[in-house]
Amino acid sequence: MIKLEGISKIFPGQKHHAVKNLNLEINKGDVCVLVGPSGCGKTTTMKMINRLYEPTEGKIFIGGEDALNKDLIKLRLDIGYVIQEIGLFPHMTIEQNIATVPNEKHWPKEKTKEKVEEVMNLVGLDPKIFKDRYPAALSGGQRQRVGVARAMVADPPIMLMDEPFGAVDPITRARLQNEFLRIQEGMEKTIVFVTHDIDEAIKMSETIVVMREGEIVQHATPSDLLSAPADEFVSNLVGRNRSIKRLHLIRIHEILEELGRVKPIPEDTKTDEIKKRLDESATRTVMVVDSDNKLKGVIGVNDLKQKTGEVAADYYQDVMETITNDATLNDALSVMLECGEGYVAVVNENNQYEGTITLGDLLNVVKEDS
Ligand SMILES: Nc1ncnc2c1ncn2[C@@H]1O[C@H](COP(=O)(O)OP(=O)(O)OP(=O)(O)O)[C@@H](O)[C@H]1O
Ligand SMILES: [Mg+2]
Repeated sequence: MIKLEGISKIFPGQKHHAVKNLNLEINKGDVCVLVGPSGCGKTTTMKMINRLYEPTEGKIFIGGEDALNKDLIKLRLDIGYVIQEIGLFPHMTIEQNIATVPNEKHWPKEKTKEKVEEVMNLVGLDPKIFKDRYPAALSGGQRQRVGVARAMVADPPIMLMDEPFGAVDPITRARLQNEFLRIQEGMEKTIVFVTHDIDEAIKMSETIVVMREGEIVQHATPSDLLSAPADEFVSNLVGRNRSIKRLHLIRIHEILEELGRVKPIPEDTKTDEIKKRLDESATRTVMVVDSDNKLKGVIGVNDLKQKTGEVAADYYQDVMETITNDATLNDALSVMLECGEGYVAVVNENNQYEGTITLGDLLNVVKEDS
């Protein structure tokens, strides 16, 4: 879908290459992540794809067409772009910000309005709450969602995303990543994604390009990068604990069914039965659900000791954090560490209980790999 052939960039007045003889092919529907130290040429490479920078040398093909000789406006309409600093227009509302490209395309007002609301919902921003606000009245993570919504509103087949999830806390970041991957599953866009965070690269990508001083050091799948780093630079970048990093590559649904956990209990379960379940439970906890299998709470061994009632409904505790089954095992680990618990409950988007992942499960996965 995207092919760079011998691409180089020397900025005017400079001696050194910002990017040097880059050869790169990205398949349709793939997410290709560029990683490497600050100044290695990631943003420059990206900006040459939509020709915000013209390459000094080389050729670029997009969908087989010579991009360097294509009409610039036509080229850019096919390429959504999320820039490194988000770059929302401060004097425009969120709705107006997202509608930038539709307005350039002179879409009918109704169609623009509908599509803006659709993408806002997609990235998890309620249009009723946010569309008339100004960027200054949003949190950093919300602004980043707006940036992503703006890039995808006109449904471009290609998206360039320069550190789209930088500058948010790890849990919000994991959520944004998972939302993004869920959206991408349905859309199959070809995406070039820049990040400083190797863990994010491993989680998000079909392939990873490691760059150093304007050149590609290695282009490989996340799994190959972890198991066969090309040189010391790459192995330092992927870091130690490579078997732990594999937790990023496995999604909860891939292991959940095999675990065969203790079944959840209804709210009217009597204490004797709860005791029995707790004895069988690997986590020393049981989950409490309503008649619709929605997660109501949790009972641990200690709650039972201090119980003040006869059935589960009388003494179950609130569940602090849950996770969905499309999250990675590493996300599960983050939640456990954050909450200081050895388990996390997995629920679907309707808060219906699907299972429990424990620290022990994660250790087993890491052990199998090493
Ligand atoms: N407009 C410009 N004019 C001159 N030099 C530039 C320009 N943009 C980037 N450079 C130089 O080109 C090199 C690559 O910069 P680039 O922005 O691509 O790095 P990066 O990998 O995106 O870094 P970061 O991770 O910090 O965003 C750097 O040495 C930078 O100083
Ligand atoms: Mg950059």
